[in-house]
Amino acid sequence: MEDKARGRADAARHVVLGVTGGIAAYKSPLIVRAIKDLGIEVRVVMTEAARQFVTPLALEVVSENPVLWDNFQSPLSHINMAKGALALIIAPATLNTISKFSSGIADNLLTTLFMAFRGPVIIAPAMNWRMYDNPIFKDRLAYLKDKGVVEIPPEMGQLACGEQGVGRMASAERIVHTLRRVIGANDMKGLRVVVVSGPTREYIDPVRFITNRSSGKMGLALARVACLRGGVVTLISGPTSLPSLSDISDAEVIRVETSGDMRRAVLEKSREADIVVMAAAVCDFKPERFIEDKISRTERFTLDLIKTTDILAEVSSHRNASKTPYIAGFAAETGDRKDRAREKLKRKGINMIVFNDVTAEGAGFDSDTNIMTVITPEQELSIPKMSKEDGADRIFDIILSHIKGPR
Ligand code: CTP
Repeated sequence: MEDKARGRADAARHVVLGVTGGIAAYKSPLIVRAIKDLGIEVRVVMTEAARQFVTPLALEVVSENPVLWDNFQSPLSHINMAKGALALIIAPATLNTISKFSSGIADNLLTTLFMAFRGPVIIAPAMNWRMYDNPIFKDRLAYLKDKGVVEIPPEMGQLACGEQGVGRMASAERIVHTLRRVIGANDMKGLRVVVVSGPTREYIDPVRFITNRSSGKMGLALARVACLRGGVVTLISGPTSLPSLSDISDAEVIRVETSGDMRRAVLEKSREADIVVMAAAVCDFKPERFIEDKISRTERFTLDLIKTTDILAEVSSHRNASKTPYIAGFAAETGDRKDRAREKLKRKGINMIVFNDVTAEGAGFDSDTNIMTVITPEQELSIPKMSKEDGADRIFDIILSHIKGPR
């Protein structure tokens, strides 16, 4: 096992997952699996106490690597494993291990490895809320964070002791999101990004509305990518059935229903923004008047619709002389109607419009992929069929190249 342990530790893309002795340790195989899904190898180090909650065998099977918990199992493993690792993640991280880290105590393989490791360290504390709230512990944690350790704070919920409180380990999805952010390019660090996504609902009466077709997947991908690249993200989203970005990241998520609500939120948030990306399917029309009581069924019913405000055009017209924020819109068309997209770019006075043909295979509404053409006054760049997340990355690459230059 020694040679195998050392050999694998040299692999270019691996992280070390430290598992410490809390009940949340039973979730650690799920974390291993989620990291491996990124194509990153995982080497697991446990404490003695963690072995009471999850077996080394389970972690060995799921990680496909030997699992170590003792300094003497594989000589110099604390050095060899730390070498070249992309990150050290401790999940769950107990009060005991966090306190040892902050005091420089190196009395087991994990704490020794921590002291030898020079890359990014991420900790996901899990403990009773009283312990998490303990002033001595808070000081220790603050000290570590001051030294650059990234904390994924525990969540509010039912704790192992039966009490409610802040102490539950963050989800595997949040841990993986944080890992991706920490090891990512960080090239949007500090940029304030507003992404507007999903459909709007325009109510006819309290139970009926008209809406647009939109899954919100492209907007979510844009917001997620901006977070992963270090942006300070606000996602303004109409109703979708997608998981909330605020469950896995620090993004601010504002849920809206009508185009009026969306307009208000976008105008307010875009004031401070560096980049606004409008990927929402805003209803172009709304009922002229809202009927307070549910309308009864009749043979015939005529609805008078009026135009909604063009949010994108309004945000664009509010820009000040320094020309911030950079504004991008989407033109979802049926057929190869780049001409319509170009016309919208001009009419709305924005920096970029992303054209996509929603009838093309691999570019539809609920699809996980998209095929896009980025159109700016100066250039047109095609983004071939790829996942919406990869496509979002390309869009931000282009936006960043513009932001860094004059515009
Ligand atoms: N948009 C907006 N407010 C509206 C309608 C659209 O901000 N009331 C934004 C969309 O979010 C998108 C861009 O404008 O980023 C283009 O939307 P689209 O529906 O393609 O264009 P419209 O201007 O509505 O023109 P048309 O419906 O005639 O195609």
